[in-house]
Amino acid sequence: MMKAQQTQALDINRPPANLPTMSQHQLIGQSVDMLDTPCLVVDEDVLHANIQALQTFVTSFGLKLRPHAKSHKCPALAKQQLAAGAVGICCQKVSEAEAFAAEGIGDILIANEVVGLAKLQRLVRLHRRCLHLGGELIVCVDSARAAGFMNKALEQAEQEQSIAPLSIYLEINVGQNRCGIAAGRPAAELARTIEDYMPWLRLVGLQAYHGTAQHMRSVEERAAVVDAVCNKVRQTLEAFDALGLARPKVISGGGSGSVGLDARTGLFTELQAGSYVFMDVDYMRNQWDSNIQPDFAQSLFVLTTVMSQTSSDRAVVDAGLKALSVDSGLPELKNAPGLVYEKANDEHGLLRCTTSQDGHTPEPESLLGKKLWLIPGHCDPTVNLYDELVVVRNGQVVDTWPVLARGRLF
Ligand SMILES: Cc1ncc(COP(=O)(O)O)c(C=O)c1O
Repeated sequence: MMKAQQTQALDINRPPANLPTMSQHQLIGQSVDMLDTPCLVVDEDVLHANIQALQTFVTSFGLKLRPHAKSHKCPALAKQQLAAGAVGICCQKVSEAEAFAAEGIGDILIANEVVGLAKLQRLVRLHRRCLHLGGELIVCVDSARAAGFMNKALEQAEQEQSIAPLSIYLEINVGQNRCGIAAGRPAAELARTIEDYMPWLRLVGLQAYHGTAQHMRSVEERAAVVDAVCNKVRQTLEAFDALGLARPKVISGGGSGSVGLDARTGLFTELQAGSYVFMDVDYMRNQWDSNIQPDFAQSLFVLTTVMSQTSSDRAVVDAGLKALSVDSGLPELKNAPGLVYEKANDEHGLLRCTTSQDGHTPEPESLLGKKLWLIPGHCDPTVNLYDELVVVRNGQVVDTWPVLARGRLF
């Protein structure tokens, strides 16, 4: 009996019954002041405005929006993007996509490469699930070898139970030098290899995403990269023509930093922006031109509490590295003149008390126990630290949405 208990595997989907919950669902209807911290909070009105603004903008160009769900990892939020008119979502990982499919979302692009037997087996099961939901799973491919393994996994699955071919986008390297086959002739040759030898794959689009362009500060810099991306896409389409291959119908890419420029290229048919729902400190450092794309506002915050105040020039909050991602810079405080988030330790955030530009100096003795709103430096990895998003409107908790794809890295 003892032995059986010791070797019993932990069910990661079901925490032990005697472990107190981390959910703040019971606070729905109450003031945000009641929330325990650190917690991840989304302002529902601002979120909805962001979702609507991008959808209206993309639709006005006759294009499709397939927002990237890596930013929020939250099926409840994805359903709102779909209800607003998105054609599907993007995910970055197979297991991440599983969390959305489990909630009934079947139109998913894994905007990334999938390699390895375990992942391919999951991918095949996910493909069946998406079909069952009446949707379509699409996956990126950037080499003949990886495509060959994928084709083989589908062929083997077919032997057990009939299966439809899997849709793929060929990812081309548009200058970021991350994934992606070289644009032009190499991409077209890969397409021909797939067409000739891999009957379980169906090429339906090109992925042309440039991540670093999103965070270039000036509109001019981003515009120059988007031009270069388009040249790579054109070269590839011309190479398809030269080999007598049908041009893929979908050209997919773009992010929150370049979406206005991408929409105007006349080349993209589908846009993949993700962070626009929340924004973050890093994105706020970009220069924006509202003639080019909608102004997205900050909807995501980490609510934190001052847990220590032992000197007049310093305060300590309960949100440090384990509550905030600082890879793109430190968080900023909202409506807290004179307070600067200066350093993140594991469980501590160190604030400097100073005098703000308008001459405001915080009163140190009033800080202990005070709740403060932090704007995360980088939204995606910050969201990945939390099990739920607390949804607030006008100072009240109105809902909690589980971040179901959080930590799903396979
Ligand atoms: C392939 C791909 N598409 C779209 C996005 C969304 O970009 P953003 O969150 O900057 O809008 C990302 C983000 O990393 C990505 O990797």
